[in-house]
Amino acid sequence: MNDRKYLLSDVDMGEEEAQAVADVVRSKWLSLGPRTAEFEAEFARQFGSKHALALSSCTAGLHLALLALDIGPGDEVIVPSYTFVASANCILYQAATPVFVDIEGDHDLNLCCDDLEAKITPRTKAVIVVHLAGFAANMSRIMEIAARHNLAVVEDACHAVGAAYHAPGSPLHGRMLGTIGDVGCFSFFANKNLVTGEGGMIVTDDSRIAERIRLGRSHGMTKSSWDKAEGRAYDYDVVQLGYNYRCTELTAALGMIQLGKLPSANNRRRQLVNRYRERLAEASRLSVPFSDRLDDSAHHIFPVLVEHAEARDPFREALNRRGVQTSVHYPPVHLFSQYRHRHPGTPSLSRTVAAAAREVTLPLHSLLDDRDIDCICDGVFESIPCSV
Ligand SMILES: Cc1ncc(COP(=O)(O)O)c(C=O)c1O
Repeated sequence: MNDRKYLLSDVDMGEEEAQAVADVVRSKWLSLGPRTAEFEAEFARQFGSKHALALSSCTAGLHLALLALDIGPGDEVIVPSYTFVASANCILYQAATPVFVDIEGDHDLNLCCDDLEAKITPRTKAVIVVHLAGFAANMSRIMEIAARHNLAVVEDACHAVGAAYHAPGSPLHGRMLGTIGDVGCFSFFANKNLVTGEGGMIVTDDSRIAERIRLGRSHGMTKSSWDKAEGRAYDYDVVQLGYNYRCTELTAALGMIQLGKLPSANNRRRQLVNRYRERLAEASRLSVPFSDRLDDSAHHIFPVLVEHAEARDPFREALNRRGVQTSVHYPPVHLFSQYRHRHPGTPSLSRTVAAAAREVTLPLHSLLDDRDIDCICDGVFESIPCSV
């Protein structure tokens, strides 16, 4: 723990979660069993999805999504560079080729649909969509482009758990983010809106894809240890290459409680973002992406952009001195050494690079209140560099 006053993120976890975990420990059944099945069924119900499969992480989910979609060597998968590296790493796991797209711009950090369309080639098989900061990408347009070019759509909905798509008049209006594409992946990592420490969920309406993911998460085996313990199976076959991406019962027990808290926690985040925007409207050397949208987001993080890249580090240091923890979401993936060496030909992605160099993430979590936001904003006004 550090002694900063305003943490970037925090978890709302207490006695209920402790009790749920204690119950699992006492049950002595610790991996992939009845609690996982219960968590999956409740998640699928609340998200309006036919299948939900709990996994060890979202990264595992992204990998299995591409595996289930038969993405392999020679295939291209389009992905924004403005994301966490896991969104792109999964493409390399399948020995396919990531093709990076730019963002819309400072006001919208999600992938640019024109650039997406321009980057499609005969080898393109899928697009990975990230709902950055929790704000929906333009799914109406993405689904239309994907249908026209016969592409699969994987939603990396790590930031967007619990948010619904807002597009009045569109058949997609009201659908939960993550359930619009062919497959959606969620993370329950320690800083997410729904926290289990490590863990993830994959959702799909396609029963064939669901079955391949179910097999893929447990070595490709046709039966689980729980099936055997329950006397439903005595042996098993291995019908595809699989991994150990299983969810533990401890994770599922935590997930059930956290799922119940999600609507009110996301609502609190929305109120806090509203307060941030009211206060920061007067800030002249700072802009707030997505500032014209409030309802189609899970408000996972609160990104702001300083005017000049050189101002960012002094700004962060000044906030740190005032007890405000900040972060950067994200260094562009295509600029990491691993990707520069593998894909030296990636075009510049100028809007991604420009925004990423000026981005600062301010604290946002459901344990903050309006007074906290006011204090953080006071710190922001005192810390904004005037001379750069
Ligand atoms: C956009 C995005 N994609 C993927 C991941 C990976 O999730 P996990 O840590 O559950 O593997 C994260 C987690 O930080 C993320 O933010």
